[in-house]
Amino acid sequence: MPKTSLLPLLASGEFCSGQVLADALGVSRTAVWKQLNALADYGLEIESVKGRGYRIPGGIDLLDADLVRSALSPQAAGLLSGLLLLDTVDSTNAEAMRQVEAGAGAGLACSAEQQSAGRGRRGRTWVSPFARNIYLSLAWQYHQGAAALEGLSLAVGVAVARALAASQLPPVQLKWPNDIVFKGAKLGGILLEMTGDAAGTCQVIVGVGLNVAMPVAAAGAIDQAWTDIDSMLEPGGRRPGRNVLLASLLNELLPLLAGFEQQGFGPWRDEWQALDAFAGEPVVLHTGARDLAGIARGVDERGALQLETAAAGIQSIYGGEISLRRAP
Ligand code: BTN
Repeated sequence: MPKTSLLPLLASGEFCSGQVLADALGVSRTAVWKQLNALADYGLEIESVKGRGYRIPGGIDLLDADLVRSALSPQAAGLLSGLLLLDTVDSTNAEAMRQVEAGAGAGLACSAEQQSAGRGRRGRTWVSPFARNIYLSLAWQYHQGAAALEGLSLAVGVAVARALAASQLPPVQLKWPNDIVFKGAKLGGILLEMTGDAAGTCQVIVGVGLNVAMPVAAAGAIDQAWTDIDSMLEPGGRRPGRNVLLASLLNELLPLLAGFEQQGFGPWRDEWQALDAFAGEPVVLHTGARDLAGIARGVDERGALQLETAAAGIQSIYGGEISLRRAP
């Protein structure tokens, strides 16, 4: 019995007796008890009260393919070729890549409750606790090489911002090249990975991580200012369910991916600039080799940062292993 089979029975947050759990799963109470203990591996708190049974305080919002599919737009439903929802995986990007290498086509979406080796940009780990956040990877195939995909990761940021707005959340901002920020703290990140022929047919995996209800204990491993959707809510505001959020992301991302090779970044540029967290501000660009200070002047039609420096005027900076910070 996989240890996650107990979770749907406890998801509501109500108490459930050991006997009810055992009967529902057709196993002994001892087996139930062992599985409950094993759930601690996921960082889940299981409360046990004599005479009442077990519960997960506050309940748990599990991923559910039917709920995701029922919230898809007709256009996104038509573009989605497969929806893989996993309990735990090393990285949804890595899994989507494996699926593509095994023959999965454009439009495969892969998400998981937990990533054991979530990947961030610049070799960082993406902190991915169980059933709290969103980890989504989408595969798409392109035919005109990597050059036709310039600016795609920035357009993905705009699509994520739209998805959050469609879920009635307050407006977020974007930090070049790939961060989604709220009030200056990181809410989410985007990681594009590519395989195939960089000059011809290639497969792109678009990975999106969004902090929804990040447990403070897990967040200790994050090495920058972070936030989550819970912290964005007005007092008494209701957090949208993760399945609805996942569907909103797919509703925006799938049409973007389907049209990008034809349209390029151009149609997304104005919206990106309107969401630019650093527009007109003094910034420092960290490239690993050196730091470059200047004023952030938005992006060009290819998605390159326009950095104005005293020495060289406007310089175009392309993505890669670069990060941008507000100047101290
Ligand atoms: C960043 O460093 O800002 C990018 C973070 C990207 C995280 C997402 S979570 C889903 C997908 N799977 C991964 O392993 N990484 C991306």
